[in-house]
Amino acid sequence: MAITDEPLRSPEERVTLVCSHVIYCLQETRRYKVISVDNNHNSHPKSLQRVAQLARDALPQDASEKDKDSAEIEAVTCDLTKKDEIRGVFEKYGKGGIWGVIHIAAYKAVGESTEVPLTYYENNVSATVYLLQVMSEYDCPRLVYSSSATVYGTPPTIPIPESTRLQADSPYGKTKVMSETIIQDLCAAEPQRWRALSLRYFNPAGAHPSGLIGEDPRGRPGNLLPLLAHMAVGRVKDDKLSVFGNDYPTPDGTCVRDYLHVMDLAKGHLLALDALSPSSNVFDNCPTEARFKAYNLGKGKGMSVLQIVEAMRKATGFDYKYVIIGRRRGDVPDLTADPTLAEKELGFKATHDLETMCRDLWNWQTKNPDGYDTPETSKVNSA
Ligand code: UD1
Repeated sequence: MAITDEPLRSPEERVTLVCSHVIYCLQETRRYKVISVDNNHNSHPKSLQRVAQLARDALPQDASEKDKDSAEIEAVTCDLTKKDEIRGVFEKYGKGGIWGVIHIAAYKAVGESTEVPLTYYENNVSATVYLLQVMSEYDCPRLVYSSSATVYGTPPTIPIPESTRLQADSPYGKTKVMSETIIQDLCAAEPQRWRALSLRYFNPAGAHPSGLIGEDPRGRPGNLLPLLAHMAVGRVKDDKLSVFGNDYPTPDGTCVRDYLHVMDLAKGHLLALDALSPSSNVFDNCPTEARFKAYNLGKGKGMSVLQIVEAMRKATGFDYKYVIIGRRRGDVPDLTADPTLAEKELGFKATHDLETMCRDLWNWQTKNPDGYDTPETSKVNSA
């Protein structure tokens, strides 16, 4: 984030966010000073130490003091449902001291959201309102928001363009639609002040190629790729993967998703953040005065559950067995992005292929069989 309204070229620029791979991408540019704001509900402090280590290792020999400072992350424990705590973060830098925010924090389990909707509305929607209010108070009117393909519900057209009507089915999905709406309304109310981009994630997977940072879900993973990695490393002991339905209208009957490498997704945030600068023209063709836009971040290529199992078999050498069980509540047949707009306007392209994504996931998992709690000396050999 910039202290002034200058283009994003100074390491004093500060950004708050909560995702290790995004922080890595920002730090790699040495143009940002990152403040991580997190309640550590679903993250491990060690991930930030490792990101900072990667950034330090990447510094050139003749790194300036500013470069060195950009490799250090300021980590603040803060609960976004507590407005005073958010104020505390901004107060430290004063009005205009924080240039912009990447807001990734949210609960994201569809099933859970149907059981405790109020918890989801509080954590995902109320927290977003509080954050926007404090950003406004401290003159920080620039936002990159993490949304999800789940806003499309069961989409009428595949691949899915951003112009598709928003019709989320689950409380989780609705929190994303509501938050996007609130942000858009704010941009419409103060069009000369606010700029915001919403990034609709498809299915991110993989890990940084170093194997130092990766996804470390608490408990048993609910998502397909982390679950397959945990099975191969022996952390989940099920002898078979339960495939949720093979009677969908897809080529092999199993659900199709648009999986993209987490490093590509992270790069998308950097592009979006840069697009909030005054020199960017992404808002020139907005339909109204409001400087708000949403972009799909996907690869534009759908993969079925069985294709993913096969790709993980190749990457891990693990002999996956599976059993077809009934459909999972809330699943839709196909979520494949039309990523054309993000490519044209942001310069975004998910370049990593499925093989690389699975290989990087497996590299992370074998180096960290117990996630960030793995003792530094422990190592498991891949098959
Ligand atoms: C899920 C959420 C989505 C959220 C995303 C976050 C649902 C319905 N969707 O996406 O809103 O943004 O996680 O990462 O929860 N599968 C199996 N067996 C398993 C696990 C998964 O067959 O044990 C299948 C699922 O039916 C699905 C595919 O694998 O077709 C991918 O599942 P998952 O990784 O959970 O992602 P989504 O459901 O697409």
